[in-house]
Order: sequence, then structure tokens, then C-alpha cells
Amino acid sequence: MRVTIHPAVNAASDDAREITLELPPDKSILHRLLIIGSLTQTQFTIPIPSLSAISHDVFATVLALESLGVPIELFPDHIDLQGVGFRGLRAPSHKINCANSGTTARLLMGLLAGQSFNATLTGDRSLSARPMLRLSELLNQTLGANISTSPAGGLPVEICGRQLHAANVELPVASAQMKSAVLFAGLHAEGLTSVTSPHPSRDHTERMLGAFGCEITEGSGTAAIVGGSNFKLPDEVEYNVPGDLSSAAFLIVAAIILGKDLKLEHVLLNNSRTRFLEILTLMGVELAMSEIVEKWGEESGTIQLRAKDIGELQPFHIASEDVALLIDEIPALAVLAACSKGTSTIRDAEELRNKESDRIHRLHLQLKKFSVESEEYADGLSIVGNNDTPMLRASVDHADDHRLAIAFAILALKASEPIVIDDAECCKISFPNFFDELQKLAGAERVTIERDTPNELDFER
Ligand code: S3P
Repeated sequence: MRVTIHPAVNAASDDAREITLELPPDKSILHRLLIIGSLTQTQFTIPIPSLSAISHDVFATVLALESLGVPIELFPDHIDLQGVGFRGLRAPSHKINCANSGTTARLLMGLLAGQSFNATLTGDRSLSARPMLRLSELLNQTLGANISTSPAGGLPVEICGRQLHAANVELPVASAQMKSAVLFAGLHAEGLTSVTSPHPSRDHTERMLGAFGCEITEGSGTAAIVGGSNFKLPDEVEYNVPGDLSSAAFLIVAAIILGKDLKLEHVLLNNSRTRFLEILTLMGVELAMSEIVEKWGEESGTIQLRAKDIGELQPFHIASEDVALLIDEIPALAVLAACSKGTSTIRDAEELRNKESDRIHRLHLQLKKFSVESEEYADGLSIVGNNDTPMLRASVDHADDHRLAIAFAILALKASEPIVIDDAECCKISFPNFFDELQKLAGAERVTIERDTPNELDFER
């Protein structure tokens, strides 16, 4: 798919009405709902806007669970999942392909470590290059797991299921994927397993296990879980998963750049994910949250953005414990930094080099190509805002990293000449309909989409 972002011809003619856009259901929650739901004896219904709105990372988890014997049915407007019980997962007959999804691979490492069968996890080229050794060693050395990685420390990962023992685990980095893997392994160990993080990270696993009646506590950077199948399910087993705030981040930044009002309904507002909104508010962005409700421990609500002159926005400084709380939103913030005034900094963010691509280096390179002044550090980058000058025309190199393709498309809205983004379909990993929503926001004259194939699901069962 090729997308071209065109410069504004006549900004004054822009439609000033508030626009409502659609988000994919939060992918972190969907992964966990599918995995934890599988361990119960219950049938779950998960309403969805459409199958084409679902992040492809989530399909990696669907296919993985199916190969472990979990019946899952996909319908145009919902997903049905039939839990197989705490000890109901079956040995897979083939290697489990986690595709591009780090969350699938790492959560499964924890889930499968304590089963009574063996399994092998593989992934695509990008996922195979990402670090798995630090998690396998942690699970092996603390809970007594038997997991081995490739000689390079990545996929394929071989998991020899065995009885685990409870342990107190210290994470080397603040990572929700690693924390969740320890909690899933702890769920299958005898006794109390605790996991301590150097900084807070998203806590959906803790909240969902708690909502499902598991004995889990959380406080002062430590979560602790009692092993065993003490599920006491909520009465209602239909869960309309809130929209993904990490995907919303890009539309919010696009609307700020375009000077448009925006309304996003039923968006996840879990406070381990909303640091991005707080940073925007500190920068001077006008945001309002309303209609806040809570279900299964997760808050969601409506976000409204009021258009403001982007030139008035203050720079931001992100470091230390902020980083894990907005790890997926940093590309969106980097784009905003480039379009506002002053120098913004992102530090203590080495983990960004371990994502679908080395996001620090690639952000720096692309910003430079677009004529934005930026400096790269081992742990982050600084970006000098140049709201007054249009971006230079340049080729876009997103390395098939979904969040970078989306980020560079938004930055291209500031260019004075058309910018072409090839292989833009990589956005399907987290936000398959991103470019359609951007088109609604920016106008059809600003965003043209040329599809090589119809916008269909392209994963195989
Ligand atoms: C995720 C955790 C984050 C995030 C990823 C989703 C999760 O990774 O980058 O997109 O669902 O647990 P880390 O916590 O490992 O950095």
C-alpha cells in the first residue's frame, strides 16, 4: 500500500467541525483477555468494531491459542472464545508463529513455562532479532523454568514445560511484557510469586487477573500472585474492550498539527497509560476527559481535543519513570516536538532500541531527512522544534515498523511538497485502519491511499 501525504493548499478552507474517529480495541488488553480467558471454563464474547479494525498482533495471539487447543471463532462484529480450563491447554502440533508480536512471544514464554508439554515459538525477521534471553534467563533462574533461545538470544525459543516453584523476581528493566510473563509463570507455580519493577509499567495483567478473582496484590512497585486456578469470574463475560490509547496518540498529534478539534469515544484511560495525555497538557494542549466508566478494573472515557496554535506549545522532557509509561507514544511525541517550539528531550529510553526497530536511531535519521534538528544519544534523543519551517521533501524509511510508518506520515503533514510512504500496510500491526482515519481527519485531498490489494485480513489460520 502506498500513501501520499499532500501539503495543505488552502488552510483557511479547512472544515472546523469536531471530528469523531474510530480506534482499534486496545491490543494490550485483548492479548490478556484472550490468554486469561483461555484458562477459565467460560465462554467469552468480545464485541469488535470490525475484523479489519483488529491489530494483527492480536491475531498472532489468537492463532497461538488455537494451536494450544483453545476454540476461538472470529465474526464480523465479535470474537467468541471458549476457555479450556486452568490445565486445559494442549501441546501444539507445530511451532507457534508469533509473527511480529513481542507481547505474544513474551506472554507465552511465561504462560507455557509451567505447562506439562513443550513448545517452540518463532516469529518474523523483526521479532526474531528482539531480545528474549533476558526473559528466559530470568524465568529459568528464579522460577526454575527450562527455556532456551537461539544462540543470538532471540527466537526461536524452546520451552520445556515443567513444574515451577514460586520466587521473588526482580526485573532488570521496567517492562510490562516481562512482568506479565513472570505473573503468568507465577500463576502456574506453587506458592506466592512476586515481581518487582525498577519503575511502573502498564498493569493490565494485574487488573485482569484481579477482576477474574485471582489472588493478586500490587503496591510499591511489586505485584504478587498466588499460584493456582482460583478464578471467580465477573458475572458478565462480555467485554467491549476500550479503544487503544497508544493508537489514539497518533490521531491526537495529527489533529494538533492540523489545528482540528477531535473527539475519541470509549478510549482506554488506565492511569498506567495516560502519561502521554499528561505530557500534552503540560505542553499546553487543551484536552478534556468525560464519560469515564470502569469495567474489570479498566477505566475508559471520551477524550476531546480543542484546536490550538501549535507554535504556543512548550517543549517536553521525558526521562526515568516516565519512559515505561509512554513507551509506545514516544514516536508520536517526537513528531509533536518537531512541530512545536523549543528543544524537547527523551532520555533513559534505551528500551526503544529493542522495539520493532531501533526507534531512537530511526526517528533521529528520519527527522534529519525532514530537516528537523535532532541529536541522538545512547539512551534517547533531543529534538529542536521548527514549527515555522515546512519539512523538507524526503523519502520515508520506516523499516516496516508500524509506529514509525504512522509517525512519519503525521510528520509529513508539515511538508511543503507531497511525501510518499511505501509499504504503509505495516500499520496493520497495531492500527489497520489508521490511514482511513487520517484521511477522515485531514481530508481526502491531503491523504491519498493506493492499495495493491483490498483491505482484507491477510493472516492464515
Ligand atoms: C506491551 C508492553 C510494552 C509495549 C508493547 C505492549 C504489553 O512493551 O511496548 O507495545 O502489552 O505488555 P515493554 O513493556 O516490554 O516495553
